[in-house]
Amino acid sequence: MSKPIYVLSGPNLNLLGVREPEIYGRQTLDDVRVLCEARAAAFGRQVVFRQSNHEGQLIDWVQEARTEGAAVVINPAGYGHTSVALLDALKTLSIPVVECHLSNPAAREDFRRSTYVSLVAAGMVSGFGGASYELAVEAACGLAAA
Ligand code: DQA
Repeated sequence: MSKPIYVLSGPNLNLLGVREPEIYGRQTLDDVRVLCEARAAAFGRQVVFRQSNHEGQLIDWVQEARTEGAAVVINPAGYGHTSVALLDALKTLSIPVVECHLSNPAAREDFRRSTYVSLVAAGMVSGFGGASYELAVEAACGLAAA
């Protein structure tokens, strides 16, 4: 059995669907989970799909993925712009990291234009709403070792 793709979402993404829907869309995070599961299944993979509002919890899951995962897809949300600790955790991985965002941060406020996660990500998918996650899972499946 091949290892799963860890799909991790950061703070406030539990409110997806009701949080600024004009920016983030009306799909819920559970809707996005279903999309990710289906896309991973097409590549013979499973996903471990988790969300937390807490930086340390996300770091614990990244550390878990170090031994249990085939790749990490991460939407770090606001922590992407602030968290050196999350970057340090991602730097411990020898599996691929794909960054994803629902919105296109490059088209928004200046402070969203860069993320710490981008320093370690193989690539980033952004701007396609829930489909950003699906595409990121597909990219992660392509990068993951058999
Ligand atoms: C986000 C973009 C971030 O700038 C923001 O802080 C989020 C969501 C996105 O998915 O578009 O919380 O990561």
